[in-house]
Amino acid sequence: MNKKEKLGFGVIGCGRIAPKHTESIMAIPDAELLAVCDIIPEKAQDFAGKYNAQPYLDYKELLKREDIDVVTIATPSGNHAEIGIAAARAGKHVMVEKPMSMTLQQADLLIKTCRENGVKLGVIHQNRFNKSIKVLREALEAGRFGKLTHGQASVRWNRNEEYYTQAPWRGTKLQDGGVLMNQSIHNIDLLQWMLGPVDSVFGYTQTALRNIEMEDVAGAVLKFKNGAIGLIEAASTIYPKNIEETLNIFGETGSAIIGGIAVNRVEVWEFPDSEEEKKKIFTAQENDPPTVYGFGHREIIEDMIQAVKLDRPPAVPGEEGRKALEVILAIYKCQETGQPVKLPLIEDIVD
Ligand SMILES: NC(=O)c1ccc[n+]([C@@H]2O[C@H](COP(=O)([O-])OP(=O)(O)OC[C@H]3O[C@@H](n4cnc5c(N)ncnc54)[C@H](O)[C@@H]3O)[C@@H](O)[C@H]2O)c1
Repeated sequence: MNKKEKLGFGVIGCGRIAPKHTESIMAIPDAELLAVCDIIPEKAQDFAGKYNAQPYLDYKELLKREDIDVVTIATPSGNHAEIGIAAARAGKHVMVEKPMSMTLQQADLLIKTCRENGVKLGVIHQNRFNKSIKVLREALEAGRFGKLTHGQASVRWNRNEEYYTQAPWRGTKLQDGGVLMNQSIHNIDLLQWMLGPVDSVFGYTQTALRNIEMEDVAGAVLKFKNGAIGLIEAASTIYPKNIEETLNIFGETGSAIIGGIAVNRVEVWEFPDSEEEKKKIFTAQENDPPTVYGFGHREIIEDMIQAVKLDRPPAVPGEEGRKALEVILAIYKCQETGQPVKLPLIEDIVD
């Protein structure tokens, strides 16, 4: 058990998502933001000033600080694994933004390094903490759906050309991936969490409208080991703005649709004798969050603090974050080969 009352945090990468990290850490009584890091000096300085933290330009320097217990990684996706592995070797617990890495080899090496160094690894799939998703998961765990038949994860969002040109890593194969790997991964994580494990995958991707290396539209079908079927629809081309991120789960005795801008609102809730419950759920609904990032970062960071203090796994450990990554890489493989892909997706393990 970690006896420290407040855990020291360092945030690596001071871009668009980073305020969700810094502001959450500042708001948690058991956490103290000590350091921030960005390779762009103005960004590191700006964050350091705003959040009263020490700025660093090189994450390796930040990792030398003994008072840092946990680092959160919010850099481009292609270097998550490298930074996470260095942090684990420095004895820091690791919270990594999604996707945890761009390949399964990198993911496995990150998981292994964290395990060998006795540090926790958490992947930031904050939508698992949405109120709507928590009630869905409870219903599923209580067996209220009966036999699960099928589900669908749809992301209908708009990322315009300006979004993709604001940083050179966006939409690239090695650093970002396309709409599946960047935007839809949260919903794919939820679909596989509810219906998984996945048996096989078939899908198509295309670069329809944006000037990027990877896909801006994709469709896929999953077959789960329990026999259920899953559909994935992912698009960053939706005109003229974000419309919805929706998760549908259907079973013999239950139907649930969680929609809103980022799977934050229960839209359909049908179970035997669920009228009173439905009214309560609908009355307690939150409005759409101001951004599709939602409200979950604080809770997932709080969960990591508890995981460290109580020496238990975090809510979304590396092994769990790896699952959506594997599904997406399998869809990419289908696009290349034209063939369905059976999981596990075997890649050479790099040691
Ligand atoms: N959980 C979510 O909902 C969510 C939302 C948005 C982004 N993300 C993820 O967060 C990550 C960052 O996305 P973003 O939109 O904030 O990107 P961004 O480009 O706005 O920010 C990334 C920052 O990292 C810095 N950086 C690059 N290499 C670095 C290094 N080696 N050391 C330190 N800093 C470095 C860049 O200078 C930049 O400021 C991505 O992996 C993305 O997929 C997650």
